[in-house]
Amino acid sequence: MNKRILTGIQSSGEPHLGNILGAIIPALELSAKTSEPSYFFIADLHTLTSNKDPEALQENTLKIAAAWLAFGLNPEKDVFFKQSDVPEVTQLMWYLACFTPYGLMRKAHSFKDKMQKFGEKAINVGLFTYPVLMAADILLYDAEIVPVGKDQKQHLEITRDLAIKINNYFGKEILKVPEPYIREDVMTIPGIDGQKMSKSYNNYISIFWDKKTLKKKVMSIITDSTPLEEPKNPEKCNVFKIYSVVATPEEIETMRQNYLKGGYGYGHAKKELLNKLLTRFAEEREKYNYYVENPEIVEEILQKGAEKARRTALEVLNRVRKAFGYSEMS
Ligand code: ADP
Ligand code: TRP
Repeated sequence: MNKRILTGIQSSGEPHLGNILGAIIPALELSAKTSEPSYFFIADLHTLTSNKDPEALQENTLKIAAAWLAFGLNPEKDVFFKQSDVPEVTQLMWYLACFTPYGLMRKAHSFKDKMQKFGEKAINVGLFTYPVLMAADILLYDAEIVPVGKDQKQHLEITRDLAIKINNYFGKEILKVPEPYIREDVMTIPGIDGQKMSKSYNNYISIFWDKKTLKKKVMSIITDSTPLEEPKNPEKCNVFKIYSVVATPEEIETMRQNYLKGGYGYGHAKKELLNKLLTRFAEEREKYNYYVENPEIVEEILQKGAEKARRTALEVLNRVRKAFGYSEMS
């Protein structure tokens, strides 16, 4: 495969196990299959639709960047950058916005969900046009394959619609029409309460926490009150569920047998889970800490990435400007 892969993650919180197993690792695995540089970025402009705290923005951006790097993103091969360092993206967003039907935006989940939950007062126009910025993120780099979670499917459809509409309007291929790569096979990682692990439910586990914090969180995983001696149902247990996404098949089977046998308490299972998290991710934890403690190194990597990204961005933007009747930029 020799296709250009692109994906982004918002910097609206610290990276958790769901983000790592559900987004970062699958994207890097996919990218390893192609010699074409992939485009990975931190969607820190999207973050502004919800978070307006500059310190939190910077802190979370650093943490997300450190997580990508800890899991092996190679900035020499791939283009790794912050969305906000490529101002061309907001310009392309404008051109796209003028082709975006109002009715299409009103149907976007990102806006509809918040509207239903919190009403019109909670909506800013940035959130309303969130999918247009996301389309610009993708189209600005001629991305061909976009790995995303199921929740982003509609955004990819909007992106494709806009590219096709503009190409048809001008009668030539100005924008590359991307393919979504929906990770159906990647399971939804459960949180400490059994719901989907998510920042918004505050039920997440970060494998990058220090040992004490990690232990505290693992110990707080919600379990039922079956006494230690009695057999337990592994399928219904949140500890077992989380263990199942990080342990080897043999280890999972051993824990399953322990549950069924009885005489094995949730405390034992939690200890094993904690150990597993610490050992399986030992190397990544070390690398992550190195990057978080050396923010200038991360910033340098991201700045170099932005330089590369801007070269592609300018080319594509000029293609659009020319077609639309504007002068080209240098
Ligand atoms: P959150 O739900 O914590 O706000 P995001 O929506 O920012 O997470 O997700 C960033 C990426 O991580 C997306 O690609 C999403 O599909 C993936 N992801 C988030 N939570 C999970 C989870 N529990 N299981 C699998 N993938 C997840
Ligand atoms: N909206 C995506 C999310 O919340 C993040 C994102 C922004 C993105 N721009 C993108 C993902 C472009 C893929 C491609 O998960």
